[in-house]
Amino acid sequence: MSTENLPQSPEQPARKPRVAVVFGGRSSEHGISMVTAGAVLTAIDRTKYDVLPIGITREGRWVLTADEPERMAIADRRTPEVADLAEEHEGGVVLPVDPTNREVVYSEPGSVPKALGEVDVVFPVLHGPYGEDGTLQGLLELSGVPYVGSGVLASAVGQDKEYMKRILASYGLKVGPYLVIRPREWARDESAARKRIVDFAGEHGWPLFVKPARAGSSIGITKVDGLAGLDEAIAEAQRHDPKILIEAAVRGREIECGVLEFEDGPRASVPAEIPPPDAHAYYDFEAKYIDSTPGVVPAPLTEEQTAEVRRLAVEAFEATSCEGLVRADFFLTEDGEFVINEINTMPGFTPISMYPQMWQATGVSYPELIDRLVRAALRRPTGLR
Ligand SMILES: Nc1ncnc2c1ncn2[C@@H]1O[C@H](COP(=O)(O)OP(=O)(O)O)[C@@H](O)[C@H]1O
Ligand SMILES: [Mg+2]
Repeated sequence: MSTENLPQSPEQPARKPRVAVVFGGRSSEHGISMVTAGAVLTAIDRTKYDVLPIGITREGRWVLTADEPERMAIADRRTPEVADLAEEHEGGVVLPVDPTNREVVYSEPGSVPKALGEVDVVFPVLHGPYGEDGTLQGLLELSGVPYVGSGVLASAVGQDKEYMKRILASYGLKVGPYLVIRPREWARDESAARKRIVDFAGEHGWPLFVKPARAGSSIGITKVDGLAGLDEAIAEAQRHDPKILIEAAVRGREIECGVLEFEDGPRASVPAEIPPPDAHAYYDFEAKYIDSTPGVVPAPLTEEQTAEVRRLAVEAFEATSCEGLVRADFFLTEDGEFVINEINTMPGFTPISMYPQMWQATGVSYPELIDRLVRAALRRPTGLR
């Protein structure tokens, strides 16, 4: 009898959990996702976890990529591309939609699929549509593979600025005034929709923020100072999402807070302040990633304000049924009130990003953060929870 199939003795360590780090993707945040994945691949504890890097091209094809995080950094003010790191160009990686089989395969037209081994947990380092919005999470649910971060509903809510605001407000968090213009309304009667926006401006004043409902990294957002810029701002937002939001400008300091799931539940980090960048009209894409506006950690707040924003951040996490992590972004108005701007279920996650920086200041290092997220995912039961 062969000894190969005997149960492992208790002294023998079980094989390391296999983490598939998935990055890139179809959203406009493809490049930033790659930069983040590079940092995760660098920092993840390889003595504890086996790692399988999987890139998703801009077209949505899953490919095996080189495990070379140094090639995943911003160079010459340009972000990297999955296509440049793909190891094979013909086939694709497939995660079977079969909860009894966690074996990932590489399949190429005309040849026998190659088994790539089992995956125990997926770390979707993806931002925006088809990654952070619940769609990928749905696929992972069907596949029965645990994954880092929020589930289907929380991810979808976190991606959609309309439903995010509705849910947060229904749980008593304060949100700023906003208007939603859906594609059908716009298609039916543009001028009536435009009049609704102008009336909204009459009530709340200019400037307005015109945003795609489901984007991120400030992409497609315009701060509009008056009627003259309105049409172009609407068109720009609609280029990214047929549903758009019009928001009144909230005057206040920008304060962010991280929430992380510990064994005993979610805890909030020390908050950070994003000072208004001088070279940019607001905290836009360039300010965030290219010129990397530094945040102030911890935010210079009173003890009461700090406690308040931490409490609100955990409330936002709970209100939207988040899992693993969330970054909750607030404005602190002149009246001393915290108005929630948004939540991010997969916030910027490079070591210099605000979320890891806030946890660093709270005593959780970047590698520990990754470890905690993976462990939280492995702990979580699959299915309804
Ligand atoms: N209603 C608003 N009032 C004031 N500033 C805003 C408002 N909405 C957005 N901003 C500014 O624009 C930035 C990006 O907007 P946000 O809604 O956070 O979009 P994203 O999801 O792309 O990060 C914010 O960090 C803030 O600086
Ligand atoms: Mg934001």
